[in-house]
Order: sequence, then C-alpha cells, then structure tokens
Amino acid sequence: MTGLTHPVVELTGVSKTYGDVVALRSADLVIQRGELLAVVGPSGSGKSTMLNIMGTLDRPSGGTVRITGHDVEQLTDRELSALRAGTIGFVFQHFHLAGGVPAIDSVADGLLYSGKPRRERRRVAERALRRVGLGHRLYHEPHQLSGGEKQRVAIARAVVGDPPLLLADEPTGALDSRSGAVVMELLHELHEAGTTVVVITHDRDIAASLPREVRVKDGLIEHDSASAAVTTAALPEGAAR
Ligand SMILES: Nc1ncnc2c1ncn2[C@@H]1O[C@H](COP(=O)(O)OP(=O)(O)OP(=O)(O)O)[C@@H](O)[C@H]1O
Ligand SMILES: [Mg+2]
Repeated sequence: MTGLTHPVVELTGVSKTYGDVVALRSADLVIQRGELLAVVGPSGSGKSTMLNIMGTLDRPSGGTVRITGHDVEQLTDRELSALRAGTIGFVFQHFHLAGGVPAIDSVADGLLYSGKPRRERRRVAERALRRVGLGHRLYHEPHQLSGGEKQRVAIARAVVGDPPLLLADEPTGALDSRSGAVVMELLHELHEAGTTVVVITHDRDIAASLPREVRVKDGLIEHDSASAAVTTAALPEGAAR
C-alpha cells in the first residue's frame, strides 16, 4: 500500500517537546515526489527538529509521520532501519565525517545496509565521489579536505545508495559563498535527476531561489509557499491579497 502514489513525506499535527521546550508545534507538511524545497527560520525555530523527525532519526511527541506512505509509528525498529536505509539520505549540519577515515570509505559506509560486499561498496562510492567532483580526493581524510570538500563528501555519502529523499541540514552554512554555490548546484542536479530534496538554510537568497519555501518560527510553520500559491490562485479576480 505504498509507493509512487504516496507523498514522500507527510507530517500531520507533528509536535516535539524536550522537557518544557516546545521545539515543534502541530506541524502539517506534505512533500510530493520530485519536490525541491527550502526550510527557513531563525536559529532555534525547530528546523533541525523537523528534519530529524522527517528523517526518522527522532520520534515526535505527537502527531503522525508518514514516509512514502508508511506510518513510522507502526514499524518495528528493523523495518524502520530498512526504510531509512533505502529511502532517506541525510546531510548533517556539521558534516559528521569520522576522523581518520578516507573519503571513499566514509561514502562506502553509506551502503553498509545494502548487503553489497566491501569492494562493490567502494566501487559505487568512488562513482559517487566523482559525481560530486571529488574523484581526485578519494583517499583524503577529513583533516586533509576543505570545508566545501567535506560537505561534498557528506553529500556523496547521503546519495550513494540513490535514496529518493535527500534531507540536508544547512549544507552551505559553514561554507564560503563559492563553495556554497557548488553545493547548491549539486543539490539542483540531484533534484533534476529525480531526487526529492529538502534543504534547511539561513540564506534568504538560496531559499527564495528554490521552487518551494517553508518558513518556521517558534516551532510553527508560519508560511508555506506551496499552500500560499493554492490559496491565492483560489481567490477570485480582484480580491484583496
Ligand atoms: N535534545 C534537545 N534537548 C532540549 N532542547 C532541545 C534539544 N534539541 C533541540 N532543542 C531545543 O529545541 C529548539 C529547536 O531546536 P532546533 O535544533 O530544531 O533549531 P533550529 O531551527 O535547527 O536552529 P539552528 O538554525 O540554530 O540550527 C531550540 O530551542 C533548542 O534549544
Ligand atoms: Mg539546526
């Protein structure tokens, strides 16, 4: 009962509290296959919380999370791991690359759940690194890579298994504008190749350049350009906007 007909992500009334901190309040969000969207908002507004819940890395305190039609709450830990491994690529806010590990193995680790033998994992990893323009840095460890290169390794790792959904938390936040532009170009390419891409960003220009923008403030989705477009389109001619 899942597959192409279901939205990739469906959050219904999702909330998250940490003790007395309400990080997310009754969020409703539907993301269709093939979308590219930005999640923007001030620091502490709940963006990472929302992305972690979408990525099934964290459980909500209330509400329902569906990923490609699966109600996450109904899955066993094993089913959830399989869903995550097969469906979701994650780029973390601060790279999360293990020290002392060459790029090719960081990326190959993204295929650990695939059951492929190590040699095959490394072959596919090499291809992913070439795809992000790092064919000449396969054996560099994180301390030998620039910030932009580290972020590209992190993206290669996230997409090495060809997940239909890519979640990127501030992928350009730690980069200069040139490296940031390279990373954004890469995300556009993945989107054009069919991946659904969700990008958290502080950068208003980046957010405005993407087809859909979701603004979060104080744990609330205060604006979603997708639903705004529907609402304004539905207004009769001449109505106040
Ligand atoms: N594990 C936690 N325990 C307690 N409070 C938390 C925890 N994680 C997040 N919070 C709080 O929840 C709120 C939302 O945090 P979140 O990380 O989602 O913000 P953000 O929008 O991603 O911010 P930034 O732009 O700074 O990354 C913040 O007030 C934060 O302090
Ligand atoms: Mg964050």
